[in-house]
Amino acid sequence: TKTYPIKHFLDNYDLSKEEIQDILSTIIQLKEAAHQNAVPQLLKGATLAMIFEEPSTRTRVSFETAMAELGGHALYLKPGEIHFGSHEAIKDTAKVLSSMCDGIMLRTEDHELVLTLAEYASVPVFNAMTYYIHPTQGLADVLTMMEHLPKGKSLKEIEIVFVGDSGENGIMAMEHAHLAASLGLRYTIASPKQYSISDAEIKKVEEKMQKTGGSLTVTENVEEAVKKADFIIPDVWYYYGYEDEKEERTAAFYPRYQLNMEMLEMAPDHCKAMHCLPANREVEITSEVLDHPTRSLVFQEAENRLHVQRGLLAWYLYPRMKRADDQTK
Ligand code: CP
Repeated sequence: TKTYPIKHFLDNYDLSKEEIQDILSTIIQLKEAAHQNAVPQLLKGATLAMIFEEPSTRTRVSFETAMAELGGHALYLKPGEIHFGSHEAIKDTAKVLSSMCDGIMLRTEDHELVLTLAEYASVPVFNAMTYYIHPTQGLADVLTMMEHLPKGKSLKEIEIVFVGDSGENGIMAMEHAHLAASLGLRYTIASPKQYSISDAEIKKVEEKMQKTGGSLTVTENVEEAVKKADFIIPDVWYYYGYEDEKEERTAAFYPRYQLNMEMLEMAPDHCKAMHCLPANREVEITSEVLDHPTRSLVFQEAENRLHVQRGLLAWYLYPRMKRADDQTK
């Protein structure tokens, strides 16, 4: 039985600024090693169980590739393929997978499920996106911003502007709010009133910002918000499950909240466009922006998913592997 303490990766809000900085520094170190074709085999023999209750391209490929690069192995457990939730209690799955694997990754709609899994797992649990937040994507976005800081500005000084849905469907808006709270960043959300971040979330974010030094601005005035933006981030207007609201949602966001060249030109010349992908081209972002040779960071951001997963897995799993080795000496 493994007895050493577990640390899960569930929500960037739960981490301290120092912990996130340390994770980012591991990510950067291993990204440099990858560029030298010299990724150390830190997770030799380790197994990651990856439970996907929702589809994925980037998250699946990046976690699986990162495990392989670090000398480990990843198991893709696709929707409906294992007993999870409906056929077996989450706590039973958590205990069994913990006895066979070194980490468990979960993508699911219900945030409570990932919390329950973590409660009963005795190995680290990684949140690979719920319909509340997307912490691995958040880290990839911060890394991408750090690599493209405007001249003369530090991470703490940049203006990050989210445009679109920050309400119930606003996964990336919420993710950046949690990251901004933990890292003390300057963050603006521009949303139509009926699709705006809740007062409870604003309070939660502002509470942490009192200690970290960040700032949160919430506005409907998207034109004013983007005027100062160093990075503009949209997200989809309707996720799975919201397709029946497509018409009313499109009417609320289009054209004011679409990231198009007109919006980008309202921002400073150096301002970059981001998007976590998959994107609905010509809906929340135009192809002209997404494919822009100098103003878009979308594909650098996607590649950074792999670099983040590699560093994140190493940061969480390697100390436990090391201790397991120590215990056998
Ligand atoms: N951004 C993101 O999570 O992409 P996937 O859904 O393809 O994993």
